[in-house]
Amino acid sequence: MLHPIEIKQVNISDAAPLLELSRKTFFDAFLHQNNTADMETYAATAFTLQKFEKELGTADSEFYFALIEGNIAGYIKLNYNTAQTELQDTNALEIERIYILQQYQGQQIGKHLINFVIDTAISKKLNYVWLGVWEHNEKAISFYKNKGFEQFGSHPFMLGGDEQTDILMRKSL
Ligand SMILES: CC(C)(COP(=O)(O)OP(=O)(O)OC[C@H]1O[C@@H](n2cnc3c(N)ncnc32)[C@H](O)[C@@H]1OP(=O)(O)O)[C@@H](O)C(=O)NCCC(=O)NCCS
Repeated sequence: MLHPIEIKQVNISDAAPLLELSRKTFFDAFLHQNNTADMETYAATAFTLQKFEKELGTADSEFYFALIEGNIAGYIKLNYNTAQTELQDTNALEIERIYILQQYQGQQIGKHLINFVIDTAISKKLNYVWLGVWEHNEKAISFYKNKGFEQFGSHPFMLGGDEQTDILMRKSL
């Protein structure tokens, strides 16, 4: 039986567990398809306590944990207005990151988080939710399509020394 999923906003005091979760889920998701040196180069600047404290303190950025029986199962990062990594459309909401720990994947937690984001965007009268996803992350792309997202563009993304392509996807509300 599936346990209830609780969504809790992450505070600045949770920066250390958020950092640990972010680093772990990132390596679990992408190490098998990428070069370790590129992953480590990226991680050295992306996953530091200083960076996470800054991100948590950024107006218009929000992190949420998904909790199952009080245990952290995953997280999401949302950006509004100028905190969005691009577009910066005041009528849009960006999902910058969504990561579920491997042992909790396939249990509807990602879907629950996406539904939470869509409901939040609707309540704020925004026009669409958008995100960028690595073109080779087929599992996530299928998941987003399943939730009604459609491709509307692409952009380059540097993973260490490897230039990759992110597909931009959007769900109109
Ligand atoms: C992608 C991810 C967020 C999905 O979350 P999840 O909790 O595993 O997915 P869910 O169990 O909520 O699945 C929700 C729906 O998507 C479907 N789905 C999940 N994975 C799928 C896949 N590989 N192909 C097709 N559909 C899929 C499920 O069948 C389910 O469908 P339903 O709504 O009809 O029941 C999660 O697997 C993850 O964290 N992956 C690694 C990190 C990552 O790639 N993040 C995205 C970076 S852009």
